[in-house]
Amino acid sequence: MLQAPVLIVVCADLMRAAYYGSRGMNLYAIQDTAAATENMLLAFHAMGFATCWVGAFNERLLREILQLPKDIRPVAVVTVGKGDEVPEPRELRPLSEIVHYEKFREVQSA
Ligand SMILES: Cc1cc2nc3c(=O)[nH]c(=O)nc-3n(C[C@H](O)[C@H](O)[C@H](O)COP(=O)(O)O)c2cc1C
Repeated sequence: MLQAPVLIVVCADLMRAAYYGSRGMNLYAIQDTAAATENMLLAFHAMGFATCWVGAFNERLLREILQLPKDIRPVAVVTVGKGDEVPEPRELRPLSEIVHYEKFREVQSA
């Protein structure tokens, strides 16, 4: 993160979601940021940049640095830069393990 030339802090605007009550503030607001973050990653990738979605940060410290009001919650940091490696695609979990038809059933994962 320290080497990335750009860090984007993605924040949930809790009051904008307040219209939908606690579900809006606790769930929709976070979903909004997840969708926005993923779109950003795809757009940066398409432009040839490398990114990382970072959730492991000190929220209290970040709030302090950016002077965020209490209803603006930092949810993710996106690092953006030029990649120094092109990683091999990693093996994905098989669809049969993560797609459930009609009802949820427990699957033994490796
Ligand atoms: C919600 C979320 C939080 C993440 N937090 C971190 C993080 O703190 N540090 C990190 O190196 N990568 C973080 N990542 C990136 C993942 O480690 C991983 O590189 C990325 O999701 C790509 O996964 P894939 O290999 O399944 O495509 C995070 C990803 C997500 C979705």
